[in-house]
Amino acid sequence: MAPQPVTSGLNRETQLAMYHRAAKTLPGGANSNFRAWGEATIYVDRGKGARVWDIDGNEFIDLRMGYGPVILGHGDDRVDDYVNERMRRGVSFSLTSEDEVRSMELLCELTGWVDMARMTVSGTEATMHAMRVARAFTGRDKIVKFEGQYHGVHDYALISVLPSNVADLGDAENPVGLAWGRGIPAQVADTIIPARYNNIERLRALFERQGHEIAAIIVEPVLGNAQGIMPKPGFHQAMRALTEEFGILLIFDEVKTGFRFARGGAAEFFGIRPDLGTYAKAMGNGYPAAAFGGRREIMEMLPSKVSHGGTYAGNRVAAAAAVKTLEIIRDTPALETIRATGERIQAGIRQVIDAKGLAYQITGHPSMFGIMFTEQVPSEYRDWANTDHELYDAIAAGMQIRGAMPEPDSREPWFVCEAHAQGDLVDRVVSIFAESFHAALEARAHAASAG
Ligand SMILES: Cc1ncc(COP(=O)(O)O)c(C=O)c1O
Repeated sequence: MAPQPVTSGLNRETQLAMYHRAAKTLPGGANSNFRAWGEATIYVDRGKGARVWDIDGNEFIDLRMGYGPVILGHGDDRVDDYVNERMRRGVSFSLTSEDEVRSMELLCELTGWVDMARMTVSGTEATMHAMRVARAFTGRDKIVKFEGQYHGVHDYALISVLPSNVADLGDAENPVGLAWGRGIPAQVADTIIPARYNNIERLRALFERQGHEIAAIIVEPVLGNAQGIMPKPGFHQAMRALTEEFGILLIFDEVKTGFRFARGGAAEFFGIRPDLGTYAKAMGNGYPAAAFGGRREIMEMLPSKVSHGGTYAGNRVAAAAAVKTLEIIRDTPALETIRATGERIQAGIRQVIDAKGLAYQITGHPSMFGIMFTEQVPSEYRDWANTDHELYDAIAAGMQIRGAMPEPDSREPWFVCEAHAQGDLVDRVVSIFAESFHAALEARAHAASAG
């Protein structure tokens, strides 16, 4: 997210002009801080399947997939045709359509543990509402979140997220709640307690000390914003048991993992029954569909005791996209294809790096994985700082020049969609990785001998 990609070697004339035009009206020239890359900001023309084209006509194999939502491929005809057909009946009524009912039925069916759910427009709203319901249900105010985990851009989520300098998170024994950016009231930030992922002993100590004030713990089942760092074996089970012991609700933030790791998301993948879950991204193949849901007795706080609304919540476009996408995920082997494709890419990458004998770890799930240059298996966000992320960043920048687009930041995983299985895309990704890896090593050797 933070570093700017190297773009020399690509034709970027039109994009540069667009950047200067856009920067007059949109702060940073983009509609999200995460896409504002200065003069290297990318302006997209179109996407189809696993490929995207920028407005200068450069073509890339997309490994960002919009930060994860595009699970089937860009411009998927099955989803788009259905959405088009449904949207002609009208989009926004602030009345309820059958598509909304159907999409939440599918969410409950696929997860297997969610009894009731409500649609939102973004993952941000989903986590915000899940936190509120948890507070209302338990009558407690504090929420525990893990360092390095991202739950969106509302005030309660922006604590101890992704500092480039991990020292800002405070002493490892005594982490501080670090607000990301100005404008977050201290009183709000104080209700969020930062914890360290994969460290069950510290969590127990925290619950013993403050459990009576803690409504919920919200967790990305894997560290989706640190290359998908996985839980240690038994971590989720231990956390589940601990939350039950202290009457604290467990919120699985499945915005990235939902309908991706398995049909029932990370909860199914890790064999956990949380109390609440949040979903977005893969449930709509890129359309703005999102939801929060959970156990019936908690969700029944709505509508009478807890506020939730939204003019666009459950709008036709999002609901129809969710219906079709979730049906495809349920009825076709899309997720199996994605997994197998991710495994093929990983195998190719392993071969390339093994040949050079460098230490590395492939983190995450085949559908959403990262490459970290380190000997130690990473277990929390702080470990990212000890990886050779400069090497990764150089490779990512090189890949972009060669026609594949991972995020130019070593914390964001690669996302695999169903369409990556088409043609020779896997081989091309691996050979682009190999060329970029070798070029980065050569540049480093050159710099070392020159310096
Ligand atoms: C785990 C997680 N939760 C919440 C969000 C916020 O979702 P949105 O960007 O739709 O607001 C994201 C977005 O990347 C996410 O990865």
